[in-house]
Amino acid sequence: MIIGTVKEVKNNEFRVGLTPSSVKEYIHHGHSVLVEKNAGINSGFSDEDYVLAGATIISKAKEVWDSSDMIVKVKEPLESEFGYLREGLLLYTYLHLAANEALTQALILSKTQSIAYETIELEDGSLPCLKPMSEVAGRLGAIEGAKYLEKPFGGSGVLISGVPGVDQAKATIIGAGVVGENALKMLVGLGAKVTILDINLKKLTYLDDIYGNRIQTLYSSSDNIERAVKDSDLVIGAVLLPGAKAPKLIKRAYYKDMRPGSVIVDVAIDQGGSTEVSKATYHDHPTYVVDGIIHYSVANMPGAVPRTSTIALNNATLKYGLMIADLGLYAAMSNSIPLRKGVNIYDGQCSCQGVCEAFDLPLLEL
Ligand SMILES: NC(=O)c1ccc[n+]([C@@H]2O[C@H](COP(=O)([O-])OP(=O)(O)OC[C@H]3O[C@@H](n4cnc5c(N)ncnc54)[C@H](O)[C@@H]3O)[C@@H](O)[C@H]2O)c1
Repeated sequence: MIIGTVKEVKNNEFRVGLTPSSVKEYIHHGHSVLVEKNAGINSGFSDEDYVLAGATIISKAKEVWDSSDMIVKVKEPLESEFGYLREGLLLYTYLHLAANEALTQALILSKTQSIAYETIELEDGSLPCLKPMSEVAGRLGAIEGAKYLEKPFGGSGVLISGVPGVDQAKATIIGAGVVGENALKMLVGLGAKVTILDINLKKLTYLDDIYGNRIQTLYSSSDNIERAVKDSDLVIGAVLLPGAKAPKLIKRAYYKDMRPGSVIVDVAIDQGGSTEVSKATYHDHPTYVVDGIIHYSVANMPGAVPRTSTIALNNATLKYGLMIADLGLYAAMSNSIPLRKGVNIYDGQCSCQGVCEAFDLPLLEL
């Protein structure tokens, strides 16, 4: 198969679909790879790196799209890319179709075989191609939170670790999933005093086993959230209700009892956010202040660290990409239930329940 990757055209998207290391793997499996000129430059991969890995560099995006059997990307195609879609083309990328009717229609009409990273699902319900981005967001959330506590960034002037003889910062994490666990690991490492809340007692028991009395675990009742948030220098919102908006667990009324310049890192902002005043921000202006509390709520946190994010994403997506390239989509999805769940549009029909429900489309059972 001919595999292609193009430079992302979405504003501020610096990741790339294939690393040189992934290129090598595809070539090792007998495929050839086309890479648009400068596609990996913002993730720190030069054209020379791709050539050394065995890829051919192509100067025009259109030529990569037209000459490839499968395009491996990061973000969904934008309208400027719709013209490249065609019958039989395999598109393997994040799609988030339930939020994008125009793209759904474009993929159906063009009969592009479309596989979405975010709906590839393992037997235990986990989402292996979303997980690395939550790992990045959780770890980065802790670092950004510590940074915005600094006075020059408008923060309260608390050093996250304290020093001998001075209290460390108090941090609260709401949600002990992938984001929460990764934020916890960083904050414990930085020396903060951390409380983590979840409604899933199994997760709290697990964390209690791992960290013992170095952390405080609490059941996520509104009473416990209120007490923990009011007493915190840093709060990380990391709750997910699959398929629904994030619950507004952090009330504005709590802010008056917090130290001015305390920080809320609203990681769940991509699902609407965890506070009553949540609004999405971008990397160029990542924070806003409400009642003296700093809110960091970038919806695309992994974009700040594109090299790490690109490599982490490739680690998760390569396996399924190789299955498709080696076997063809039909045989690959017959062999792999997780991959079958990733197929959103097949032969011009919608095969993802969430997308069909969003736009009242008939469901193709694969
Ligand atoms: N801003 C970004 O760049 C970015 C990047 C990655 C992920 N995210 C978002 O971060 C959020 C968390 O993602 P994740 O991968 O950790 O999800 P996850 O499913 O691994 O974890 C979510 C956790 O929330 C818990 N939860 C549900 N209701 C709760 C409640 N009322 N109180 C406390 N905990 C509750 C669940 O039990 C689960 O442990 C999601 O909204 C995800 O989309 C944002």
